[in-house]
Amino acid sequence: MKALILSGGKGTRLRPITYTGAKQLVPVANKPILFYTIEAVKAAGITDIGIVVGETHEEVEAAVGDGSAWGVDITYIQQDEPAGLAHAVKISQDFIKDDAFVMYLGDNLIKDGITSFVDEYCSSDANAQILLAHVPNPQSFGVAVLAEGRVVRLVEKPKNPPTDLALVGVYMFDSTVFEAVNAIKPSARGELEITDAIQYLVDNDYKVNSHIITGWWKDTGKLEDMLEANRIILDGITTDICGEVDETSEIAGRVKMGKGTKIINSCVRGPAIIGDECIVENAFIGPYTSINDRCKIVCSEVEHSIILEDSQVLNIGSRLEDSLIGKNVKIDKDGRKPRAYRMMVGDNSAVSVT
Ligand code: DAU
Repeated sequence: MKALILSGGKGTRLRPITYTGAKQLVPVANKPILFYTIEAVKAAGITDIGIVVGETHEEVEAAVGDGSAWGVDITYIQQDEPAGLAHAVKISQDFIKDDAFVMYLGDNLIKDGITSFVDEYCSSDANAQILLAHVPNPQSFGVAVLAEGRVVRLVEKPKNPPTDLALVGVYMFDSTVFEAVNAIKPSARGELEITDAIQYLVDNDYKVNSHIITGWWKDTGKLEDMLEANRIILDGITTDICGEVDETSEIAGRVKMGKGTKIINSCVRGPAIIGDECIVENAFIGPYTSINDRCKIVCSEVEHSIILEDSQVLNIGSRLEDSLIGKNVKIDKDGRKPRAYRMMVGDNSAVSVT
């Protein structure tokens, strides 16, 4: 069994963060989402992994390397245009050959991993297996219709969803899927849709099994989804404090803190994670906050937020909440007259002031 992880695409819903980086590398609890995917694949016993990459290929390759950090072999497959999930499968045929494989969308996070689903597929005689989940907003997903437990119809992001069963971004296929991806035509939005390829398998009497998952799963395409994923992962951390906490500071609840980090006259209330070489001074770090390496939080409060590396929140005197702050960002109160907000904010940013 092989794995195909999709890490191309454009990440438009996470702009401006994704102007300068791959959406699959945005960290949840200080670890890129893509790393959780690789770990889940490895845990399922699969070590031969193809990663489909697009315009952010250099960054993905720099972060993941040859896979030896996880004990897996990575083959990069370049997709010149994000022409759809089935297109990504099509261009991966030389890598997959005749093997069965699990396709995992690199922006999806499944809390309990994929091992049981891979085992279930391997012990069945199905050509494909899809995972489904009941969701409140099926119009944002591929949607499945079942009849007596069998998959009969799949529609991609329907305006009027026939059911609330969304396709989760993990699919298992044998090589019959190549017949399907070569037979289908691009959809109205110009993409080769994996839902159409699976519909082809259903229509041509190939066996497509489905499994409705009940555990936590997220497509991390948007800010709220990132914050929710961050909450779920932080809920599972255990305390591990490196660095220094001075005697006037208080650490409460489960907190992870990296080497070289200093907590001075501050309160950190977990679950929270603070990376390496950070300075937290006269500050409050509240629950569900992930602060990446080399950040500086001074005379400020941060809660329920994700802050990427090398950023600073200085003297803001109020609380930063529900926020995703990119790399090397500086937010401060400078006291200059006239009192005013002074900003240099990139395209497609969102700033809320009180
Ligand atoms: O998250 C589950 C949903 O994923 C399914 O319910 C939908 O049926 C499926 O089409 C997909 O929808 P999204 O709109 O979320 O797909 P997105 O464009 O975000 O792409 C998913 C991942 O695949 C993402 O990591 C980028 C990557 N990708 C995407 C395209 C279109 C590629 O590597 N190449 C591509 O051509």
